[in-house]
Amino acid sequence: MKTTSEWNQMKQNGEKITMVTAYDYPSAKQSEAAGMDMLLVGDSLGMTVLGYTSTVQVTMGDMIHHAKAVRRGAPDTYMVVDMPFGTYHGDVDTSVENVLSLYQQTDANAIKLEGIDCLPVVKRAVRAGVPVVAHLGLTPQSVGVTGFKMQAGTQEAAMQLIEDAKAMEAVGASLLVLEAIPSDLAQRVTEALTIPTIGIGAGREVDGQVLVYHDLLQYGTDRLPKFVRAYADFNTAGVEGLSAYVHAVKNAEFPDEATTYKRKVFEE
Ligand code: KIV
Ligand code: NA
Repeated sequence: MKTTSEWNQMKQNGEKITMVTAYDYPSAKQSEAAGMDMLLVGDSLGMTVLGYTSTVQVTMGDMIHHAKAVRRGAPDTYMVVDMPFGTYHGDVDTSVENVLSLYQQTDANAIKLEGIDCLPVVKRAVRAGVPVVAHLGLTPQSVGVTGFKMQAGTQEAAMQLIEDAKAMEAVGASLLVLEAIPSDLAQRVTEALTIPTIGIGAGREVDGQVLVYHDLLQYGTDRLPKFVRAYADFNTAGVEGLSAYVHAVKNAEFPDEATTYKRKVFEE
């Protein structure tokens, strides 16, 4: 499993970092088998696997439950876990305690927090020994305020984001996720930092990419954001398989000889 200095080395070597979200044992197992560099137990699990309308409803209990399953499925892959909404915007002491608790309970390699307002929390968490991943640009926990759309589209907002990114690096963040921002801005942020940037909807001039498992495999998702490319179609494959099973049972074609225990326990 790679360490923080190795991620920095990959950036320096121009070797792209691959990341995908994982929420349970099978998705983690598949991702590890595919050679993914890192996994993100994203709070997007609220939508993708729990059917909530946003990430706002996700709790600490949800994150711990899913992260533990991911760790069991991918024991040898670097695992980042999201802090859920409402657990790091109160007083700094409580917020830091929550970060430490999530880190400790999930066996995560790093904890991710959204936005720039949590800067003091990131600083203290790093000093307490927790590797932190920052997340700027579109921050889904704030979509009630920002909407689900591209961020930092003006030069003023873009300059601010570069400053925010530098501030996150200065307090010790190990990695930075950049979501839904113009690619020229993402490139500038990437050039301005020593730590790697991982983009989602941030173009290719970043140090790595992250996508949501259920988007990239089209699994339970209806509509894909502009920045997603699907690499498989689990929706179609799943419904086809389930329909074939329904058909076979209705027509008494399943179970058959091969799927039946045939030992005779009654003398006729
Ligand atoms: O929860 C999530 O899936 C994320 C990614 C979009 C970066 O935070
Ligand atoms: Na998230």
